[in-house]
Amino acid sequence: DWTMANVIDEQVADIRERVGDKHVICGLSGGVDSAVAAALVQKAVGDKLTCVFVDHGLLRKGEAEQVERDYVASTGVSLKVVDAQERFLNALAGVTDPEEKRKIIGREFIRVFEQAAAEVVAEADAHGEQVEFLVQGTLYPDVVESGGGTGTANIKSHHNVGGLPEDLQFQLIEPLRKLFKDEVRAVGEELGLPSEIVWRQPFPGPGLGIRIIGEVTADRLETLREADAIAREELSRAGLDREIWQCPVVLLADVRSVGVQGDGRTYGHPIVLRPVSSEDAMTADWSRLPYELLARISNRITNEVREVNRVALDVTSKPPGTIEWE
Ligand code: XMP
Repeated sequence: DWTMANVIDEQVADIRERVGDKHVICGLSGGVDSAVAAALVQKAVGDKLTCVFVDHGLLRKGEAEQVERDYVASTGVSLKVVDAQERFLNALAGVTDPEEKRKIIGREFIRVFEQAAAEVVAEADAHGEQVEFLVQGTLYPDVVESGGGTGTANIKSHHNVGGLPEDLQFQLIEPLRKLFKDEVRAVGEELGLPSEIVWRQPFPGPGLGIRIIGEVTADRLETLREADAIAREELSRAGLDREIWQCPVVLLADVRSVGVQGDGRTYGHPIVLRPVSSEDAMTADWSRLPYELLARISNRITNEVREVNRVALDVTSKPPGTIEWE
């Protein structure tokens, strides 16, 4: 009998037995998969689990706080936060090439995570505990895809933040291996996780770093975060956030256009809205959002976000356009 309560009970019993008196580590990305996987392990082994959250500064508005505050409050996990924002900004300074950005973010992420993992190992060791397991939020479609032949054309190098550094010697715990995304969300709800996390739309590992077209800087991140927050707020207010697949908001940081705001001429940056509908992100269509909603988002962004004086809508399907701009 396949209810989410049963799935939870079964996984909790399995994990408890496997872990025994060892220690477990888990990387949290802010996404639903790692959050639900870690919550299951927490339920099974309590403080034998240590979660690591690398704050690379490329998350959207409020997302780091959702992990650090709301997720911890609802699960009781012991969380190690690494503030790596400066480090990522420094590593990304001067870089505009999309693949280069992805490589840098992936590389820095693994370095920071490995360092944090080594610290967790040392701390556990001091308590006479051995860290033997790493939790991964692998879902059933990931299992099928990696076992199933050719997979997808590798158009962009994908770095899943929270992914497994190759030379870390841990055994894997993958409590979501039999589940589809909607089931993972149901488990997350059953476990009482914050709905912002449970219902979060797909978000790329490199985060806002690949939604700023041009160099990534602290100011540009701030601008994009504000615009993105407005778009998300209006989408959910319109009840459409769970309808669409995702809506990247992209800052064309290297483009300027002339505008008139208040009683002055401005020379600001455009923001692009990229709402898409999709089943699996392999193909996608642009979402026909209501004009009223688009108007509200546009008005608010141009009124509330300094530096942005123009909002454009991406009406390209995938193919030919990928969902993300980089
Ligand atoms: P594209 O842009 O290739 O995106 O059409 C397809 C889906 O994948 C997400 N995406 C990523 N997810 N790491 C991820 O975990 C990445 O590096 C990455 N790049 C793109 C994208 O948001 C969309 O859902």
